[in-house]
Amino acid sequence: MSAHSARVAVVTGANKGIGREIVRQLAERGHTVYLGARDEQRGRAAAADLSADDLDVRFLHLDVTDETSAKTAAERLAQEAGTVHVLVNNAGVGGPMQPPSQTPADQVRSVYETNVFGVITVTNALLPLLRKASGARIVNVSSAIGSLKSAAENLDQTGEHPPGEFPSTLLSYASSKTALNAVTLAYANELRGTGILVNAASPGFVATDINGHHGRLTTEEGARIPVLLATLPDDGPTAVFLGENGTAEGQVLDW
Ligand SMILES: NC(=O)c1ccc[n+]([C@@H]2O[C@H](COP(=O)([O-])OP(=O)(O)OC[C@H]3O[C@@H](n4cnc5c(N)ncnc54)[C@H](OP(=O)(O)O)[C@@H]3O)[C@@H](O)[C@H]2O)c1
Repeated sequence: MSAHSARVAVVTGANKGIGREIVRQLAERGHTVYLGARDEQRGRAAAADLSADDLDVRFLHLDVTDETSAKTAAERLAQEAGTVHVLVNNAGVGGPMQPPSQTPADQVRSVYETNVFGVITVTNALLPLLRKASGARIVNVSSAIGSLKSAAENLDQTGEHPPGEFPSTLLSYASSKTALNAVTLAYANELRGTGILVNAASPGFVATDINGHHGRLTTEEGARIPVLLATLPDDGPTAVFLGENGTAEGQVLDW
């Protein structure tokens, strides 16, 4: 194991979109960042591109749905870095827009593989390295659409959708983020007292491939809340769901 002086961060699903920008912003703050991607070519290209700006960004092959891939990535990190200070579980997939009554369970299961089970797989693989770091942070990139309170009230607390129009046609995606929120709280509670802070971020409605670039925010704006949670001070919160609302501190969302 080699000693590493900079804080080490791992971002999953980071070859494009919000994840790639989280990598840039963490590297600009002095982190050594492992850019996780399931596709080697896309991942290497993104890492090379960011490294060209004099940032310490390294490609990490990581398919979050594959236990072996997560284990291999953890072994490499253990050898190269020894510890991991920041894990941003960003990789995510969307689901078809259709009423729940017309959504086959297999479609839901497939979205959960990445958005929920993938987060558990990667977190468990990297936890031994996160426990070795001083003041580690885990950030799960969720969505305001995953809020149970908003769903129950049929009201979007972020104001991104007009009142009464909380999306009801996203069963697989929305419920996967609800499950991810529950997963976030479970880890936060297990890790209370260890110095590892575990929180969920809602990046806002960001123009990326996942929504056909219909989002209103840029990826720079969308990366802000995940980066804020990834760089919390030691007395920062755990078990918080924080969303983008344009203010410096963000908006604490109801779970
Ligand atoms: N955009 C928004 O408005 C918005 C709002 C709320 C939450 N989010 C969340 O933000 C996160 C990033 O989304 P985005 O908007 O940046 O979308 P995106 O541009 O489509 O990026 C998604 C990333 O996840 C990767 N990915 C998918 N499955 C993977 C797997 N099995 N293993 C590793 N990587 C995988 C993709 O890799 P490939 O290129 O190989 O497919 C891609 O790099 C997601 O969790 C999303 O749910 C986005």
